[in-house]
Amino acid sequence: MTYCIRPLDAFINAADFQCGSEPLNDYIRRYASQDVRRNISRVFIATPENDPRQLSGFFTLSAGSVSCSSLPASLARKLPHYPVPVALIGRLGVDKKFQGKGLGSILLADACQKVSQASTVLAVAGIIIDAKDDDAISFYKHFGFIPLQGQAGRMLLPASVFQAK
Ligand SMILES: CC(C)(COP(=O)(O)OP(=O)(O)OC[C@H]1O[C@@H](n2cnc3c(N)ncnc32)[C@H](O)[C@@H]1OP(=O)(O)O)[C@@H](O)C(=O)NCCC(=O)NCCS
Repeated sequence: MTYCIRPLDAFINAADFQCGSEPLNDYIRRYASQDVRRNISRVFIATPENDPRQLSGFFTLSAGSVSCSSLPASLARKLPHYPVPVALIGRLGVDKKFQGKGLGSILLADACQKVSQASTVLAVAGIIIDAKDDDAISFYKHFGFIPLQGQAGRMLLPASVFQAK
């Protein structure tokens, strides 16, 4: 299946969205547009190419920072000893009807590409995600995210992995 990914808009039908995580369902239905208006997050939605109202998945992007003390030594020694800027994929979810068909990977790749483009004008040392459970941790490990020390569920993809050479 081919998907279109676009910024959240009022045209989408989020009422039936079910990704298996009630906080994520609730977020996209009730709070996402408010976060966009307040410049807290940018929210991107995926729909099947032939059904632009059907919400298949979404992710959010924001700016954040991370303390070097939580980074693996191999990375920390290349960075200053104060908090460094990162991009945050705050939320990512795929509707159950579309899970297991590659959409999660497409959304993650799209988020990395957007961060890579943005990083030409706003520096980031990596992408952070907060995995909500062991399943999510396995999903992100699969794509090269590494766990941060002392921060349960928080993982990092270093900029060197996703930046265009
Ligand atoms: C996690 C989630 C986004 C994955 O979406 P998806 O569309 O089913 O994922 P994909 O089909 O693109 O799978 C991509 C790859 O990750 C792997 N994968 C998927 N879920 C996984 C898991 N829980 N653990 C390990 N690997 C996983 C798949 O096997 C696949 O591997 P492959 O590329 O070698 O075939 C989706 O299950 C979801 O929305 N879950 C509920 C919300 C959630 O956990 N969000 C995560 C952030 S907190």
